[in-house]
Amino acid sequence: LKPLTIDTCFSLELIQFKKWEPGGIVVVVDILRASSTICAALAAKAEKIYPVVSEEQAKQLKREGWLVAGERGGKKLEFADYGNSPVEMLHAELDGKSLVLTTSNGTKAIEKAENLGEVIIGGFTNLRLVSDYILERKKPVYIICSGWMGNFSYEDALFAGALAESVSLSKLFSSASDETLSAIELWRNAKNNLFDNVMLATHAQRLMNMGAEKDIRFALELNSAPVLPGLREKYLFNLLS
Ligand code: MLT
Repeated sequence: LKPLTIDTCFSLELIQFKKWEPGGIVVVVDILRASSTICAALAAKAEKIYPVVSEEQAKQLKREGWLVAGERGGKKLEFADYGNSPVEMLHAELDGKSLVLTTSNGTKAIEKAENLGEVIIGGFTNLRLVSDYILERKKPVYIICSGWMGNFSYEDALFAGALAESVSLSKLFSSASDETLSAIELWRNAKNNLFDNVMLATHAQRLMNMGAEKDIRFALELNSAPVLPGLREKYLFNLLS
């Protein structure tokens, strides 16, 4: 039996060069912090999340009565109800509610992923569930790291490595892409001291300077938000509820 592909794209600008077969599972990753915010909001029982790229569209949806969470450059948008903060989501009254989310890179990654396969959202907060889902579905896996403004982000690559390592243990998957091999090496090098290693990353430092240490800690906590966000039409739902 031929092993299934697990490939990784390290930047939104590089997606154009990927020649992925249709019909795979696309895992969108934005460790700091869109992945963890989405997981936290669904763990807080939000019914669905509407990811939108444009600030203007989010503002319009706010006028139409939607709850909105969002940031630019990491800072909460002034018109939004919430920032892009997983810890804020956990304490918000979201039971049964719908939420618009707009972020600097994560929601762009979701938009780019939409036509490439079945989109799910992965982070350390739901690593085990994402890994189990992939093993169950037995389809090629394409990991899209959101990065920062078109650039590579260390923490997203670490998660790509963690996920690839986890699913390739099964031998169903082959991690023989240069990016995936590199991600696994980065993860193996960092995993025993994840927080300190991630703190070396530029976006972690940016968030620390904004007082978001709790968000970083939550985002790096393995399996802390046991949900499986999946895109259905244009909304993210917890596929397990
Ligand atoms: C993004 O989408 O770029 C991030 O989630 C930014 C942030 O940490 O708020």
